[in-house]
Formats: sequence, C-alpha cells, structure tokens
Amino acid sequence: MAAARTPAGLAAMVDRRAAGQPLEHVLGWAEFCGLRIAVDPGVFIPRRRTELLVRRAAALARRAAAPARQDPTRQDPTPPRAVVVVDLCCGSGAVGAALAASLGRVELHAADIDPAAVRCARRNVAAAGRVYQGDLYGPLPARLRGRVDILAANVPYVPSGDVGLLPSEARAHEPRVALDGGADGLDVLRRVAAGAPLWLAPGGHLLVETSERQAPRAAEAFGRDGLIPRVAHSSRLNATVVIGTRPPGQGE
Ligand SMILES: C[S@@+](CC[C@H](N)C(=O)[O-])C[C@H]1O[C@@H](n2cnc3c(N)ncnc32)[C@H](O)[C@@H]1O
Repeated sequence: MAAARTPAGLAAMVDRRAAGQPLEHVLGWAEFCGLRIAVDPGVFIPRRRTELLVRRAAALARRAAAPARQDPTRQDPTPPRAVVVVDLCCGSGAVGAALAASLGRVELHAADIDPAAVRCARRNVAAAGRVYQGDLYGPLPARLRGRVDILAANVPYVPSGDVGLLPSEARAHEPRVALDGGADGLDVLRRVAAGAPLWLAPGGHLLVETSERQAPRAAEAFGRDGLIPRVAHSSRLNATVVIGTRPPGQGE
C-alpha cells in the first residue's frame, strides 16, 4: 500500500502479484543489506542469503585497505586506500552496491552478460562504480589484471536438472541464465575460478556463493586453480560462500 501512488495503482500491483509476479518486481525494488535495490522485471532478485557473501567480502576488503594498521611497529601507518572490487555476474548490482555502501572508498567494477541486468545495475551502482556488459571477465578493463582485491561473484549455481524444481516465481520471472549453472551447477563457478588468478592482486580474494552440498567440489576447483580455499557458512541465512585467496607472495 505504501508503494502505490493511487488506489488504481494499488489494484494493478495486487493483480500482478496475484498473477504470480514476484513482489520485488511488482514494487520495483528489493531490500538487500539495508539498501533499496532497483530490480526491473526479468532481472534476478537479490536474495537475503547473499548478505553472507557481502559481509565476508567487506571484512576482507577492510583488511586489504589498511594493511599497515595491523603492524604495531609502524610509526607512520599509511592511510586506508580504496580497495578494488569487482562484482562479476552482478545482476542488479546488489552485491557491488552493498559493498560500496559498507566500505565507503572503493574502486568498483561490475559486469553481467544480460543487458537487462546491466541497465538495472547501472542505476544501482551509478555513482559508486562502472558496469560493463559481456561474458565473465571479457568486458573488464585490462588495467585491472593483478589489481583486484575483492572479486565477488554470485554466479548461477542451480544444476540444470533442478531448475524445473524451483518456485514458479524464479522459473517464470527470472532469466534462465541467472539460475542454470550446468550439469552439476558449477560450470560458471569453475570458469570464474580458472580466470581469477589473472585478475586478483596477490593476497586478493574470490568469493562465490554455492549450496552447502556443492561447497567441497567448489573448494577443490579453487585449489586446482592455485587459490587457497575455505568455506564460510551461516545457518541463520542458510548460506554458503567459498572463498579463495591468491597466495600473497605470487607476483609481488
Ligand atoms: C544468481 S544471479 C546473481 C545476480 C547478483 N549478483 C545478485 O546476487 O543478486 C547470476 C547472474 O549471473 C549472470 N551471468 C550468468 N552467466 C554469465 C556470464 N557467462 N557472464 C556474465 N554474467 C553471467 C546472470 O545474467 C545473472 O545476472
């Protein structure tokens, strides 16, 4: 009721909802990490569980921003720097927008293959960063290679055979490219992990959401690509995030 401007507008919104459209598409926004994220019809709706990925990424970014502060012997700690954050498979840009809001100073780059998602993300990260369209790392500027502190990628991870089991709101109103992760759900994740060492700064982190069941195989893939893997889980959010760190000594 608060979102409708007129009684007729409210009736139209109720009709759309009753016809099965997700509430967030009817309202035009989703709440995520305390922010209102614009979500256009046909764009993936950010899930509450993805707040775990944001929280872990923000904590790692803060450490990356102020390494000198952790050294008590330093007399002249260098001021915090802007961390370089990439939100790959950004959808509406919710993850990048939340990281920018939480961290304040970031150099944010976001990318997605879906033009509708890119249009939406451009609105959500407008002042905070740049949004590119294309396949995974393809559209990112080459100058980011070896400089990325935080590579957050909420990739599609539903196994192809399970997409039909999702609630109809997802099946009918979110694009398949946002959901389908291939035979075991890890196809896009494996491609992201394989490319990550080229883009991450030494000591930089890749964070990807998976299901709890997929996490061990995802961690294995990270390890094969030279990242040091670990798994974070939140029972409250029913969320699992696999984190891979590029060894700090590499390339320095
Ligand atoms: C699960 S959604 C996540 C969206 C957003 N990060 C979030 O958490 O709300 C996955 C996103 O990955 C994008 N995507 C799928 N395959 C891609 C690819 N090969 N390159 C870039 N983006 C891709 C989809 O368009 C979709 O927006």
